Amino acid sequence: MSALKLTALSGNLKGPSRTHSLVAAVVAAIAERIPVDRTDIVVGDLAPELGGLVDPAHIPPRVQAAIDAIVGADLLVVGSPVYKGSYTGLFKHLIDFIDPNALIGLPVVLTATGGSLRHALVIEHQLRPLFGFFLAQTVPTGVFALDSDFTAYQLTSPDIQSRVHTTAEEAVRIAVPGRARRATAVAA
Ligand SMILES: Cc1cc2nc3c(=O)[nH]c(=O)nc-3n(C[C@H](O)[C@H](O)[C@H](O)COP(=O)(O)O)c2cc1C
Repeated sequence: MSALKLTALSGNLKGPSRTHSLVAAVVAAIAERIPVDRTDIVVGDLAPELGGLVDPAHIPPRVQAAIDAIVGADLLVVGSPVYKGSYTGLFKHLIDFIDPNALIGLPVVLTATGGSLRHALVIEHQLRPLFGFFLAQTVPTGVFALDSDFTAYQLTSPDIQSRVHTTAEEAVRIAVPGRARRATAVAA
């Protein structure tokens, strides 16, 4: 079977980014288990076109390419820094341009980074319901990492690395059979 189409969506506004490193660690752990055809989206890179976008009838090409990569994926890995208790506004702004029926059944790995453990449940209280709206299939284990889990923006915490491998294992188990189901649904 061909490589799994994996789209990595990171909600950081600027680099270097711990969030992007965390998302990359999850993608690497998945790629250790199964061949992947990977597309990387960083919302901060889209800011010039995405920030002022209001008209869904006039979506700029780079934003449209990002949306196409999200809706066309076999597996989505998302991450966002916590900003004021939630995902970043620009991350949500990109998601707002996705058709409500476009992510049904799509396996999604949820990750987030923050400065405080007080917001560790952002995955369960913000990200999981957001993808629940789309009837996506969120992977059970989410990964939240603190700033202190990184050294020079690279993930160095063994505990978080272990969780990264747990979610990668779950994602592969869900996405590989799910890919066949999605392909059948698209063809029907
Ligand atoms: C505008 C802003 C708001 C933030 N709000 C929160 C917050 O509510 N809770 C929290 O735990 N961390 C908060 N942080 C800290 C970031 O979530 C944290 O440093 C994160 O790891 C940054 O990710 P990055 O390196 O990918 O940019 C905030 C940071 C910024 C810049």
